Amino acid sequence: MPVTHKVPQALPAHVAIIMDGNGRWAEARGQQRADGHRAGLEATRLAVRFLAEQGVRTLTLFAFSSENWGRPREEVEALFELFVSAIEAELPELVERGIALRFIGDRASFPPDLQTRMSEAEQASADNDRMCLVVALGYGGRWDIVQAARRWVADGAPGADAESDFADYLSTAGLPDVDLLIRTGGERRISNFLLWQAAYAELLFIDTFWPDVTADELRQGLTWYASRQRRFGRVRPAEDAREAVRDA
Ligand code: FPP
Repeated sequence: MPVTHKVPQALPAHVAIIMDGNGRWAEARGQQRADGHRAGLEATRLAVRFLAEQGVRTLTLFAFSSENWGRPREEVEALFELFVSAIEAELPELVERGIALRFIGDRASFPPDLQTRMSEAEQASADNDRMCLVVALGYGGRWDIVQAARRWVADGAPGADAESDFADYLSTAGLPDVDLLIRTGGERRISNFLLWQAAYAELLFIDTFWPDVTADELRQGLTWYASRQRRFGRVRPAEDAREAVRDA
């Protein structure tokens, strides 16, 4: 039997994506911004499939930020309708592919039917363990840190290792830190996404508007990530992110 040497390739355990550029994609075509979000949903499908097939275990998507409440009412309503229909339409395939769906963010002000769909989808997919697909809705990194701090203090600020114990109060409790953060649409900022969780993430900014993103660009992103030397504040590259941070 021929001996095959599998080249070890560093795959990010946790990829987070700021899916930006839907509005400009639509405006460039003389279409409504909501059309851009619908086209963005197609790109989202493609990204989830591709990254799950590559073996990425956690994928977090920024779908609606705390600040997006400030958009025109029609756009916000169109987004909520899109989320409801997307959850309904995509859930069976996600379950079939072994993907667990989890929502992070302040959902209290969402329409009741959206809140119901979110909880049902989380329950229906909870036993899946191939990938955890985290959808950030009503999410802000500062909101997350403040809600965690409140609960942590209320519990008497427990823990010998304050950083890892505090992380258990964030909405991403139990998930690894972000390894690779991708933002499409040409802007180069984090926009209040996973502020704590992306402390050591490699940042990849792509000019392509989200609806135009291809599997090939995502593949290039993974290849770029594999070429990065992650040092976590040390001199030599670290083999394992969490180990390095723990030991630092
Ligand atoms: C940012 O583009 C995109 C959003 C605020 C919405 C993203 C939502 C989707 C892609 C649908 C995904 C659905 C699920 C359930 C995950 P923008 O409007 O800020 O674009 P612009 O910067 O060009 O204005």
